[in-house]
Amino acid sequence: MKLHQFIVALLLIAFVSCKKAVPVPTGLVTENAMVVSAREEASKIGSDILQKGGNAFDAMVATELALAVAFPFAGNVGGGGFMVYRKADGDFGGIDYREKAPMTAHKDMYLDSLGNVIPGKSTVGATAVGVPGTVAGVMAVHEKFGTMPLKELLAPVIALAEKGVVVTQKQEDRLASYRSQFIEVNGDSTFFAQPYKKGDTIKYKALARVMRKIAEEGKDGFYKGEIAEKLSAFIQDMGGYVSMEDLALYEAKWRAPLKFSYKDLDIISMSPPSSGGFTIQQILKMMEPHEISKFGHNSAKTIQLFTEAARRAYADRNYYLGDPDYVAIPMNELLSDSYIQSRMADFSFDKATKSTAVSHGDVTIVESDETTHYSIVDSFGNAVSATTTINGGYGSKLFSEELGFFLNNEMDDFSAKPGVPNMFGLIGAEANSIMPGKRMLSSMTPTIVEKNGKLWMVVGTPGGSTIITAVAQTILNGYEFNMSMQEAVNAPRFHHQWMPDNVVFEPNGFSPDLMIELKEKGYVINEERTPIIGKVDAIMVLPDGRLEGGADHRGDDTAVGF
Ligand code: GLY
Repeated sequence: MKLHQFIVALLLIAFVSCKKAVPVPTGLVTENAMVVSAREEASKIGSDILQKGGNAFDAMVATELALAVAFPFAGNVGGGGFMVYRKADGDFGGIDYREKAPMTAHKDMYLDSLGNVIPGKSTVGATAVGVPGTVAGVMAVHEKFGTMPLKELLAPVIALAEKGVVVTQKQEDRLASYRSQFIEVNGDSTFFAQPYKKGDTIKYKALARVMRKIAEEGKDGFYKGEIAEKLSAFIQDMGGYVSMEDLALYEAKWRAPLKFSYKDLDIISMSPPSSGGFTIQQILKMMEPHEISKFGHNSAKTIQLFTEAARRAYADRNYYLGDPDYVAIPMNELLSDSYIQSRMADFSFDKATKSTAVSHGDVTIVESDETTHYSIVDSFGNAVSATTTINGGYGSKLFSEELGFFLNNEMDDFSAKPGVPNMFGLIGAEANSIMPGKRMLSSMTPTIVEKNGKLWMVVGTPGGSTIITAVAQTILNGYEFNMSMQEAVNAPRFHHQWMPDNVVFEPNGFSPDLMIELKEKGYVINEERTPIIGKVDAIMVLPDGRLEGGADHRGDDTAVGF
C-alpha cells in the first residue's frame, strides 16, 4: 500500500469509528404512531384514537383519562400534571395542570402550636388534598389542539370503566400493601377494602358516571355543578379544605417550556412550577464539556460526574424554585453558561464533594415516588410528553365512593416548614412555602428531545425527586452510549439529590468493585435501600422515521402503536 492510500485508509477507519453505529431497536417498532404508558389498556385506547385519525393531543385526552381508570395508583382525575408538546412543524409548548393550594390554605397549616410539622396532616386523608387540575388540563389541550369530538375520545374510557380492568400481579401487590391505609382513611366498607387478586376484574361504575359528565359538559362538568358539589362536600366533610369556589376557580396554564442545547441535541422540558426542566438543564450543562461516551456507561467516572452535577443542581432547585406566579426565580442567572461553569469549578474526579460544602439550605425535600408518565407520537409527527400524579401511591388514600376516584396528597409537595436556616445562615425553601392558590413545586419532567433539529425522543417517568435523574440518564443512554430506546429504559439507574448526601443505586445493576471504588473516593452509598428508580416510558424516532418504544418493565408499562 502506498503512503497516500495508507493515510486515506486510516482516515476512513477514524471516520467510521467516530460515527456512532445506529443501535438495533429492541423495543416495539412501529411505522406510524405510538403510545407508551403504565397500562396496556391506556396505551391501546390512545393508539386506537391515533389510528382513527386523531392527533397526539386527542390521544392525550383519552390516554390520560384511561389511566385514571386503569391505573388508579397514579392515573387520576383527582390530581394534576404537566405536558410538553412538539408539533410536526417544530413549534413547541407546555401546559401546567398542577394542583393548587385551596384559598383557605396558609403557610403554617401543617404545623402545631410549637411550630413542628404535624405528622400525616399533609400526606394522608382530606387535609392533604390540593385542588385537582387534571380535567382542566386535558380539556384545555382538547380545546386548543383537539380534532375529534370529546364524546368520541371518552367513549372507550367510559367503556373500560364499565367493563372493568383486569388486576395484574403488580396491582394485586400494590393494593394489598395499601389496603390497611385505605380502611384507616375511608372505613372498612370502602371500595378497595376487599382483597383483589391477579386476574380479577374491577369495574369502576361511579368513575364511569364522572367520565360521562365530562364527556357531555367538558371542564364545567367536573369543576361546577353536581360533581363539584359532591367532591367539595366530601373533602370538607372528611376534614379537608377544597371548596366549590376552589374548584370553580381552577385553571390550567399554558407555559413556555425550557429549551436548551446539549451537544447536538435540543432538549425541551417543563418549566416551573415543575423543577424538572431547570434541574435537568443544569445537570446536563454541567456534564456537557466532558467526553462522557469515552468514560463508559455507568462507569465510576460517569457516575461521579453525574452525581456532582446533580448535587449542585438539586441544591439550587431546592432553594430557588417555586410557583413562578408567586415567587421571582432568577432563571437567567441560574441557567447562564458562566454560572453553570462556576458551579463545577471545584469538581474533581479524585474525590467526592461534600453536600454540606455546596449551598443552599439544609432542607431535605421529601417527595413521593408515585406518579405516572406517558409518551405519544402521532402519524403526523406531533409529539406529547405528559406526566401526571396524585403524589403518593393512591394519593391521600381518600377515596370518594360516590365519584369513584382517589384524591391527591399534593399539599405535601409544598415545604410545610420553610425558613429553617442552613449552615450558611441562608433561609431555604421559602420559595415553595404554602400560599392560597399557589402551585406546589414538582419534579415532573416531561421531556422531548430533538437531534439535529428533528424529533428524536419523547421521554418521562414517575419517581418523585428521582424523576429528573432518571430522565437525564435515559437521554444520556441513548445519546452518549448509543443504546436503543428499550435498552436505554432498561439500563440500571442511580440517583443523587444533594441532600441526603448519598448515592442510591438500583439493585443488581452495579458491581461490588464499582461500589468500592466510589466509596474510596468519598461517596456514601445507600446500601440498605435499593429501590427501583423511575418507570420510564419513552419513544425514539429511528433514522428511517419508524418509532421504537421503550416501555419500562419495572412496571406493567406497555407500548402500543401501528
Ligand atoms: N408529586 C411528585 C412531583 O410532583 O414531583
